[in-house]
Amino acid sequence: MTSPRVLRGRLLDLTADPAVAGRDALRYVEDGILVMDGGRITARGPADEILPTLGDTPIEDHTGKLILPGFLDLHIHFPQSRVIAAFGTQLMDWLERYTFPEESRLADPDIARAMASFFLDELLANGTTTALVYGTVHASATDAFFAESAARNTRMIAGKSMMDRNAPDFLRDTAKASYDEAKGLIGRWHGAGRQMYVVTPRFAITSTDEQLEACAALTHEHEGVFLQTHLSENDREIAFVRELYPWAKNYADVYRHFGLMGPRALFGHSIHLDDSEVAMLAESGSAAVFCPTSNTFLGSGLFDRDRLAKGGVKIGLATDVGGGTSYSMLETAGEAYKVLQLRRQTLRPLDAFHMMTRGNAEVLGLAHLIGTLEIGSEADVVVLDARATPAMAHRMTAAAGDLEQELFVLMIMGDDRSVAATYVAGERVVRPR
Ligand code: GUN
Ligand code: ZN
Repeated sequence: MTSPRVLRGRLLDLTADPAVAGRDALRYVEDGILVMDGGRITARGPADEILPTLGDTPIEDHTGKLILPGFLDLHIHFPQSRVIAAFGTQLMDWLERYTFPEESRLADPDIARAMASFFLDELLANGTTTALVYGTVHASATDAFFAESAARNTRMIAGKSMMDRNAPDFLRDTAKASYDEAKGLIGRWHGAGRQMYVVTPRFAITSTDEQLEACAALTHEHEGVFLQTHLSENDREIAFVRELYPWAKNYADVYRHFGLMGPRALFGHSIHLDDSEVAMLAESGSAAVFCPTSNTFLGSGLFDRDRLAKGGVKIGLATDVGGGTSYSMLETAGEAYKVLQLRRQTLRPLDAFHMMTRGNAEVLGLAHLIGTLEIGSEADVVVLDARATPAMAHRMTAAAGDLEQELFVLMIMGDDRSVAATYVAGERVVRPR
């Protein structure tokens, strides 16, 4: 038998998309109680209603702080925790000079385990409880990642990168080996507890036709697996794709041709798209994933959120560590705001917090499980403090009682210091020192 965990604080979640429902999408309880039991949220509501039902169950007091669903990060590379802050290059040189050599280290399962462990602890310290994760080409490294995630009981979605050309020898697989290895990983991990699999061809440049066909086969043969890859991030990348696939109408057409688009497919970056590419994403129900800190750091370009949204494309938000420069979804939302400023677009705080939680969960089709504080949802929770640093506390003296301003302060000034606590499946996570 489990015993319930009871949190007291300011409950905040989004029950709809604020871009559609406006402020009605916001569900906020100033003095709230959240009860978690057996890994799920079992009760929630105003303290004066819930407290009398609880008997002498101890209460974890987060009064004054915001209690939200744990964040989701829809594009991140677990082997790249030491690639962050690699100086002076753009995508193709960055891959060759920094990223591929680092990823080769994960051939050693002990290194892979240590990297996975550090990475998951860092995500949780930042309040991120679910992520869509790229592994290296080594199946054993993705096994190590899932084992670490299972030990923490986190809901993670991960996959081995598939690369059978245009990569160094030591990071290349074959179409057949990558299919067999991914199939093995799906058998061992997809649906094992909270773990899920994502078929992961790195990008069109590093896969042959045969490997892209194998990816489509994997998604058709296994119910509920996702697909992730990179799309239209950088000008040199796009030119190389044009050379490799002269028959394709454009970059997205390569993925469409091989049957890789669909409602469970997520395309990282999706910056430099023509109108027909936007239509392909929209018509197939695929998602574009906005990775703002990566796009500024690697000088890739400015994501055109309004154009994609108007075209009917689902949009997710992600860090893309280690092209991205922070594990924090708060900092990521802040950078998204700045990128959209440069586009003369905007990101209102409610929209940003929706993206980080229910919005990203909706993109995955998992909003019935994660991304809200609904009764019955999995109890992944983050507790946020908008006064975590002296500068934030000082700024907050000018925001008294204004919830949207408080959320904006969190996304512009916040990071892991603003995360007062994280809970995974109802259990409090303690950050290792
Ligand atoms: N395109 C192919 N691989 C990668 C990667 O590791 N990071 C980013 N940002 N883009 C990529
Ligand atoms: Zn990436």
